[in-house]
Amino acid sequence: MVVTAQGGNSLARLALQIKDLEAQVKTCQLCRLAKTRTNAVPGEGSLRAEVMFIGEGPGYHEDKQGRPFIGAAGHFLDELLAIAGLSRESAYITNVVKCRPPNNRDPNPDEMAACAPYLERQIEIINPRLIVTLGRYSMSKFFPGERISQIHGQARIVDGRLCVAMYHPAAGLHQASLADIIRADFRKLPVFMEEAQRVLMAPPAEVVEERIAEAEAAREFVVHNPETGAVLENVAIYTPAPAAAEAPTDLAINTAPIVEEMKAAPPAAKSKKSAAKKDSYRQMSFFDL
Ligand code: URA
Ligand code: SF4
Repeated sequence: MVVTAQGGNSLARLALQIKDLEAQVKTCQLCRLAKTRTNAVPGEGSLRAEVMFIGEGPGYHEDKQGRPFIGAAGHFLDELLAIAGLSRESAYITNVVKCRPPNNRDPNPDEMAACAPYLERQIEIINPRLIVTLGRYSMSKFFPGERISQIHGQARIVDGRLCVAMYHPAAGLHQASLADIIRADFRKLPVFMEEAQRVLMAPPAEVVEERIAEAEAAREFVVHNPETGAVLENVAIYTPAPAAAEAPTDLAINTAPIVEEMKAAPPAAKSKKSAAKKDSYRQMSFFDL
């Protein structure tokens, strides 16, 4: 395969990166699960996947074939993907641990920690818009301290990426009442994908902070007619940025002359237009006062 100089993330480059990672996983000896596995299961799917599904760890069939979610839970996952308008080929599917825990026991914390860099690298390479965790173990990575019964089917932004926690498909096989809940959660995925696009396009945090600071510098407050108590105007005071720190005292000081001015010449007397639109909002520059 030839990697061209252009295109930092060309498909060929992504393919090489994923192949390299798969090779590392297949020969990995970083935890005890290496001793009991038949095949490591790195994961599979589209290099341009917009959604990454993260399960727990390979089971019996996955260990035999080296592919994720190909047993009974995998068949249910296929149904769930179809509900969401997705296919295995359009998504990327992987697990928290890449080797099967013996007798399908839960993965141990040290095994998950040893395996974590592979998942992190997969996320970096595939760069999915949306991450969907399947079950408690992958949930705990993205939503630490949460309970699946509380947050299933909900989306949150984690490290600048939209993440949704789902029940593990196997839970739906063991408990029929959960199957429909899981289906309903997957039905929401197209909406989350649109939302995920907005998250990706959202300005970076420092730009958002800058805009909030600008908005705060142009605070609004209400001026009452001192005689009747009625709201006269909704006046936006523009406070130049350097003076923003002293804003609270400025407001208190500056309100008095406005009120005095209005007392002397109520809006009705100022112009026909403002008399007609007495209750409408008016922007008033600090420097107009
Ligand atoms: N369960 C998982 O969590 N992952 C698989 O790959 C298969 C079953
Ligand atoms: Fe390596 Fe992960 Fe397999 Fe452990 S589970 S041997 S860390 S690939």
